[in-house]
Amino acid sequence: MGEVLIKGARPYGEEPVDVLIRDGVIAAIGAVEAAEDAEVIEASGQILLPGFVDLHTHLREPGREDTETIETGSAAAALGGYTAVFAMANTNPVADSVVVTDHVWRRGQEVGLVDVFPVGAVTVGLAGKQLAEMGTMAAGIGRVRMFSDDGHCVYDPLIMRRALEYANSLGVLIAQHAEEPRLTIGAVAHEGPNAARLGLAGWPRAAEESIVARDALLARDAGARVHICHASTEGTVELVKWAKAQGISITAEVTPHHLLLDDSRLETYDAVNKVNPPLREATDAAALRQALADGVIDCVATDHAPHAEQDKCCEFAAARPGMLGLETALSIIVQTMVQPGLLDWRGVARVMSERPAEIVGLDEHGRPIAVGEPGNLTLVDPEATWTVRGNELASIANNTPFEAMTFPARVTATLLRGRVTAREGKAVGDRRWDAGGP
Ligand code: DOR
Ligand code: ZN
Repeated sequence: MGEVLIKGARPYGEEPVDVLIRDGVIAAIGAVEAAEDAEVIEASGQILLPGFVDLHTHLREPGREDTETIETGSAAAALGGYTAVFAMANTNPVADSVVVTDHVWRRGQEVGLVDVFPVGAVTVGLAGKQLAEMGTMAAGIGRVRMFSDDGHCVYDPLIMRRALEYANSLGVLIAQHAEEPRLTIGAVAHEGPNAARLGLAGWPRAAEESIVARDALLARDAGARVHICHASTEGTVELVKWAKAQGISITAEVTPHHLLLDDSRLETYDAVNKVNPPLREATDAAALRQALADGVIDCVATDHAPHAEQDKCCEFAAARPGMLGLETALSIIVQTMVQPGLLDWRGVARVMSERPAEIVGLDEHGRPIAVGEPGNLTLVDPEATWTVRGNELASIANNTPFEAMTFPARVTATLLRGRVTAREGKAVGDRRWDAGGP
């Protein structure tokens, strides 16, 4: 494999250095001698970070390839600076068997832009009734290390307890979509003054918080780890903080959209803003930002959830929840966390790469930028600004609440094991570009 020389980049925003990657591994930093045919990336002024890791991505394959495939989602991930993503299990068929989880892993490797780690379902068909064969999936080629019924909550406390016990003995992680279903029947928006005024049925904070509290206690008793998907309320922050103080093994993620947006966006009834859990109030978003800065919330996860135009461009109640997230995540973290002084670039590396990799126990991703470490790297231009155009994003679905918004900072290159997977806004091997542009 050839060499890549990154010139003048600032690791974690610090002093500029040259970085040489050879045979997929960081070979030298500082005074660097590159081969004549090395691929050179001029990166003066740019920030060098470990490749991002997303614990929560919906890639829709198998089943909804009209909205996203492992190929197009991998391109979006590479463009967003990711080297590893976890593909959620709510596909069709559901990823509740080793046949599906191994397919997801294999297809991701075939595409080769990002390591696509399959998430296995906790229960058969995501129905919440019977545990899926977690052990078989964990032992497959895809080596499933995270299980989740995301989209659905593992609502039965006995099933959740058994899942935690079983996961503990397998050394894998259970990630919970915290939503007490009895409290969200018919709900389409955050329960509060805005939803009341607009006539939208409300999704109360307690639906999330009651499951977070319950699962913390179940994890405590099982001596197991639990991970909370897409924390969305100030109360969840308080509960996670409390549980961590008790010594309970709990971790939590937050999405870029819950950090940036709030339920004042619902005014237009445009379902691009419909998501589960719903956009909350500005006070919740502020509490989530502070919790991410303090480490109470461990990491950022996109919950990238592409949907077809007909499933979004319809009445609010009928629309599907979810929004694109992979290509906008870094910029939103810069806007909500770096610019206000809540995180520095070391902090960005922690919440977008190191912590998520630790949470699932990846040894190749989320590593320090140091000689001998894998060449999984992301370059960011901190001075860039760009305007989101859904139809220029790599995903097949192109509706986004961020349409026409101008954001700071942009990923300029991503390297997976020393191979450039995205550069200057183009994913390597992206057929849209080979065909002459998107
Ligand atoms: O908004 C969401 N969309 N939340 C989920 O939990 C599932 C996801 C999806 O699959 O569309
Ligand atoms: Zn979810």
